[in-house]
Amino acid sequence: MPRTQFAAAPPTGSELSRVSGPATNSLAQLIRQRRDPVAAARADEATYGAVYALNMFGSQWIIAAGLDAAQEILMSKGRVFANGPAWRPLNGPFFDRGLLMLDFDEHRAHRSIMQQAFGRTALTSYLTSLHTIVERHIGEMSEGSVADGNPVLMHRRFEQLTMDVALEVFMGARLPREEAARISKAIVSTLQAAGAMVRVAIPGNRWWRGLRGRRTLEAFLTDRVAAAREGQGSDLLSMLCHATDEDGARFTDRDVVDHMIFLLVAAHDTTTGTLTNMVYNMAKYPDWQKRARARSLEMPLELGYDELAALTELDWVLKETTRLCTPIQIEPRVAVADTEVCGYFIPKGSMVVVPTLANHHRPEIWSCPEEFDPERFGDERAEHRQHRMAWAPFGGGPHKCIGQHFAGLEIKMVLHQLLRGFEWEVPQDYIMPLDMNATPMPKDSLPVTLRRR
Ligand code: HEM
Repeated sequence: MPRTQFAAAPPTGSELSRVSGPATNSLAQLIRQRRDPVAAARADEATYGAVYALNMFGSQWIIAAGLDAAQEILMSKGRVFANGPAWRPLNGPFFDRGLLMLDFDEHRAHRSIMQQAFGRTALTSYLTSLHTIVERHIGEMSEGSVADGNPVLMHRRFEQLTMDVALEVFMGARLPREEAARISKAIVSTLQAAGAMVRVAIPGNRWWRGLRGRRTLEAFLTDRVAAAREGQGSDLLSMLCHATDEDGARFTDRDVVDHMIFLLVAAHDTTTGTLTNMVYNMAKYPDWQKRARARSLEMPLELGYDELAALTELDWVLKETTRLCTPIQIEPRVAVADTEVCGYFIPKGSMVVVPTLANHHRPEIWSCPEEFDPERFGDERAEHRQHRMAWAPFGGGPHKCIGQHFAGLEIKMVLHQLLRGFEWEVPQDYIMPLDMNATPMPKDSLPVTLRRR
């Protein structure tokens, strides 16, 4: 394949290498990526080196493969890699002023206030309402399709469950059905607009619906902030209203609204997709379903913080699932100054991408990387402990997912109750068809046969 030199050469006299990459056009590139992103990344790295450039719709992306590069970029020690200018073109204006979009000092200041809503005390206070929602949804699964013996569309079920978590645990709202439907629709429209192909508002299109969805959420949340400030609620919105950093700084009403909108979307597809993928993996590998169930049956139905952490087999299945099918497949950054990564020159303004999904398949770290093998996370093998960035579905550095523990608690609580209540299977030759456009999602919503135990 012909090679193109990346536009900017290192300064004269510099010993840094110049980034190069395939002279393929954006469409061909996209087709290769969609077909098999891991194989495409490995082939490019073998041909062009660990740091290479790809044409991506009018701009060049520098892909920085490997774990050392991921560490250099995500830790951004010299504060040269910024989030806002990297994520905004991908996400559009829908999550502006969300934590992920802020950089450097401003990001640090906001994160240290938000951290209070994600510390152990706060997380423990969310557990009671999480448990109530999960119990309600698992109870509902016994009705309808299960009672009739028809396959259950698991992804759809989990979407409804995580939406109730968004309404009740995040916003403290048990809303009338119609109002809940209106707010759920606004969340979904905002989320879907970020991945729209047509990126201008035309009445009725995704972008337009996303802007409208964001306005609906802004109005709804603004109305609730005043009451949350007055009250003593234990929902996430109330926590953000009352949270302070060590110097007593707190969020303005506007900050709370902007952060809540991003939190609602950051939590939704990632958690739903992971739950669905875990159910799929435990249907394909029934031994793991049995092992995880055996552990859950040793425990009570309602679990506390430490007990959820003690669900060892579920923990390994969660780790292995997010290794193989990483919800956020790349982490983009923009270099705000000339810099270098692993000996390559990176000019100011470059889009630099950490390919997390491909990094999760590196054969020097993972034995048989394509295989589903949760035991690799056990103490004996501990393959993930070989490098700080070996297993990084929640990212790393200052922007590492602030909701990681919340997600772990929610996911384990759902599957703990599902394992205790049901057995499930898929036909032996079934392969879940994935839409890899954004967060990987099953195109068929994952139909499984659920049987009550
Ligand atoms: C399986 C579930 C989840 C996965 C895989 C995931 C993944 C990630 C990743 C990879 C990042 C870093 C992106 C980057 O550095 O460019 C991130 C950031 C973030 N996530 Fe999550 N996430 C999950 C669930 C959640 C949940 C449940 C919440 C909130 C309750 C949440 C809130 C956030 C926030 C606020 C950030 C921005 C952090 C910052 O910029 O400081 N995430 N997430």
